[in-house]
Amino acid sequence: MTSLRRPVDGTRVIPASRTSALSAARTMRADPLAHLGAVLAECGEIGRFALGPQRIVVVNSPGLAREVLVERHREFGKGRYQLRALRPLLGDGLLTSEGGLHDAERRAIAPLFHNRRIRRWAELVVDRTSAWTATIGDQMHEQDVLRAMYALSMLIIGEVLLSEQISHAELLGQAVTTAFEWEMYALTRPVPLPLWVPTSRSRRTKKALTLIRRHITEVADARREKPRAEWPDDVLSDLLMIQRDIGPLSDKLVHDELLTLFGASQETLADTLAWALYLVATHPDVMARMRREIAAVLDDRPVAFEDLAALPFSLHVIRETLRIYPPAAVVLRSATVDATLGGALIRRGTIVMVCPYFLHRNPELFPEPEQFDPDRFTSHTLGGHDTYAYLPFGAGPRACIGASLTHMMAQLVLVTIVRSVELRYAGEKPPRPELVINLRPQGGLPMQLQRR
Ligand code: HEM
Repeated sequence: MTSLRRPVDGTRVIPASRTSALSAARTMRADPLAHLGAVLAECGEIGRFALGPQRIVVVNSPGLAREVLVERHREFGKGRYQLRALRPLLGDGLLTSEGGLHDAERRAIAPLFHNRRIRRWAELVVDRTSAWTATIGDQMHEQDVLRAMYALSMLIIGEVLLSEQISHAELLGQAVTTAFEWEMYALTRPVPLPLWVPTSRSRRTKKALTLIRRHITEVADARREKPRAEWPDDVLSDLLMIQRDIGPLSDKLVHDELLTLFGASQETLADTLAWALYLVATHPDVMARMRREIAAVLDDRPVAFEDLAALPFSLHVIRETLRIYPPAAVVLRSATVDATLGGALIRRGTIVMVCPYFLHRNPELFPEPEQFDPDRFTSHTLGGHDTYAYLPFGAGPRACIGASLTHMMAQLVLVTIVRSVELRYAGEKPPRPELVINLRPQGGLPMQLQRR
């Protein structure tokens, strides 16, 4: 470990963006993706700029992504900058813990989301989706599909985690959005005011955090009081069993994990589904191929976990959606020591941004990157690309633990909707991707829907 603390001499110099710190502060606040894209267009695969006192390096190549996330993961940690934004909501859960605590949490929690464990939730996903499609009438009518997918994923994730249809889901959804907005504020301002400074933003955020925590605590406490034989098969029961049998997980840590899992999954799933429905609706050939595949495999029966392997095209649609609109569009790290990256010196405390959004749009890695083409994923896992060219779930020891669950849930939902609902995008222009922690369609996703 001592070698990591030793300052290292870099031989290369990272190109600096000519944008002034003042203008960077303005554009990072208004449109962070546009700003990062402009820095990369100006500087190439690695560039730097300043956000107030903060030095930021943006990287955009598979090799540099691998260096940051995998090979030198000890030199590039989550860092104060990111943690000050995420910890108020997520505490010390898996996403925000570091060092030994993170290793222990990961060992305990990642197995809950292995392939063989997630199938227990497949039927629930299909049931809740079918209940939504049953509400679609025989006449074409307009709905905000982003909002509908938020509600559906709140229902599904609520049951996967807590076996309960989250009461006052709408209110909780708003509270999560408020918490994300604060995180985004804290990540894009040169010197954000901490939550204890009583601004209206802080008050609004604290109220939202209290609402979310109170709900989680009530459900967990009620479960603890029940005999174990009556515990349902969900993540809360798994965590309480880990707490009792393996320990030591404090009550607070159990709640932090639930909040982390909720925060990491609910909106990412909803955004993925909304983007996938938009892309399928605007590509009738893809919709027709999906329907042919579904009809051949399922006939009239509902889709089940066992069918998924026989429906590869729908999985390719999901994977291609995650290429074009990766919900985690930017993955952040911070140099924990003076380090090198691509042969250049990176000073301790510098923020490093790996951007799946731009990697996935690099024409050298993905020809005609703006084109929605699920067949990119047909022949081999990545269509023959470098593994680190496609990073919707990150990479290395902090890669997403929910990737298989996401693929399963998204495939089941998409198959269920596409086979039974006619979908037409009703916006005047293509939706604009907006980064509010996750990448979502700005202002919602208007669609004309009709039962088939
Ligand atoms: C489309 C859906 C999803 C996307 C795009 C996504 C993306 C990501 C990414 C990029 C990371 C790495 C973050 C980093 O390196 O800083 C991550 C971590 C994580 N994700 Fe996901 N995720 C998704 C769904 C889920 C689901 C369903 C769960 C719940 C089971 C989940 C739980 C987590 C957790 C706990 C971590 C932290 C892992 C660690 O630091 O050890 N995610 N996710």
